Amino acid sequence: MRQPMVAGNWKMNGSSDSVKELMNGIKAGMGGVNAEVVVCPPFVYIPSVADAIGDSGIKLGAQNMCDQDAGAFTGEVSGPMLKDVGCEYVIIGHSERRAMYGETDEVTAIKYGAVLKNGLKPIFCIGETLEEREQGITEQVVGRQIDAILNSDGVASLANAVLAYEPVWAIGTGKTASPEQAQEVHAFIRNKIAEQDKVIAEGLRILYGGSMNSANAAELRSQPDIDGGLIGGASLKAEDFLVICSAGQG
Ligand code: 13P
Repeated sequence: MRQPMVAGNWKMNGSSDSVKELMNGIKAGMGGVNAEVVVCPPFVYIPSVADAIGDSGIKLGAQNMCDQDAGAFTGEVSGPMLKDVGCEYVIIGHSERRAMYGETDEVTAIKYGAVLKNGLKPIFCIGETLEEREQGITEQVVGRQIDAILNSDGVASLANAVLAYEPVWAIGTGKTASPEQAQEVHAFIRNKIAEQDKVIAEGLRILYGGSMNSANAAELRSQPDIDGGLIGGASLKAEDFLVICSAGQG
């Protein structure tokens, strides 16, 4: 049985006050959740969120990481630093980083390897654009993105990783993939991994991301190959995030 996961990607949002309020709200509702709950704040708020987490059982993640451990890399944050402040997970390959910060398949693979080398767990994001979906090449694109990490680190590396299928056209648009559309791609991903290692594929958590919210979470989470969600906008409101974290499993 795979333990479901719901991770909040706060992106570049928040303030000292709002982060405190959000964490208080999430902690107050942890009794009802049926998933491993992860929050991924902006770097500057990680230490205060780590303090707020206390013994609540909430896990901490970062949204990005440098592939180098230390040195003259102005503006970057390393794996050892993230470990030092209590992170367990790191989001790698988010479509916003691919589209706006030039992160190629090659870069995402290097970062993925660096996360693992530091004893952290990647939440590795993949997903097609609207144009690619309309061209009918979704599986080709997602397959290529996964091959980047399979070729560099091997299928066994997925034992310590989580995948997140985030169709780019569904991110922040209010256009969620239908449960059937999402399930179809999740099944493709699991089958692809199973071609190399059935046990790893069966244990691998594959999250859905893209306008997942309190209204659609239960149906998405009930799909057999959807093991939870990576949540953007709706993770900024404790009440909405908690509904997603507690949504029934099918
Ligand atoms: P939204 O939930 O805001 O669509 O964002 C999804 C996402 O990009 C999570 O990483």
